[in-house]
Amino acid sequence: MRRKLAAGNWKMNGTLADLGELDSLAETHPTPGVDILVCPPATLISAAAARAGKGPIQIGGQDCHHADQGALTGDVSALMLADAGAHAVILGHSERREGHGETSEEVRAKAKTAQAASLMTVICLGESLGQREATNTLDIIGAQLSLSVPDSSNGENLVIAYEPIWAIGSGLTPSPDQIGEVHDFIRARLEKRFGAGVGRSVRLLYGGSVKPDNAAEIFAVSNVDGALVGGASLRAADFSPIITALESA
Ligand code: PGA
Repeated sequence: MRRKLAAGNWKMNGTLADLGELDSLAETHPTPGVDILVCPPATLISAAAARAGKGPIQIGGQDCHHADQGALTGDVSALMLADAGAHAVILGHSERREGHGETSEEVRAKAKTAQAASLMTVICLGESLGQREATNTLDIIGAQLSLSVPDSSNGENLVIAYEPIWAIGSGLTPSPDQIGEVHDFIRARLEKRFGAGVGRSVRLLYGGSVKPDNAAEIFAVSNVDGALVGGASLRAADFSPIITALESA
């Protein structure tokens, strides 16, 4: 059985003053029926991990370099994230792929180092609107999946997040059928590459404009094991109902 996962991506939002949101979440969900992950900006990981303690919330990073250390101004390594208290790292988010020119090969190199540092990697895949309109979404996702996921992956250290680029921050979401088609495809590809046991144990998240009012419908879709939530993860008042919807899915 895959344990469901509600993951929050704060992106470039939040200062120390916002860490009280973690306390609110932990108070509302002291013994959650799902895993809860919050990925604040790198500046807050250490303080967030200390604040979360051994409670119900785990802390993750939003990116890392593929090297462990070196003359790489401005970069942060997977070892550093783990040292700061992170349990996971988001990799290959479309805002990194598009805004920083990250290729799937780079994402795979990062994921390999992050998994070696015992971080759970949340690898993001997603098509643009143009690609979807050209009806080759599954080709795009299939290529990103095979190139971005390292051979060292298993059900503990790999989570896949399907995030259509056009749904991120836009208020638009794919239909349940469209989400199900992609998630079933990703599941089948993982089973083919890693075998049924590992392939079935990897959690598949949907991401892109998940809100309290659409969460239950999305969580009812086949092979959706949770969500990667951006805007609605910033405030406990918004993230908490999404967690509750996942618990009852
Ligand atoms: P959103 O972002 O929930 O604000 O659409 C999701 C994401 O980019 O992970």
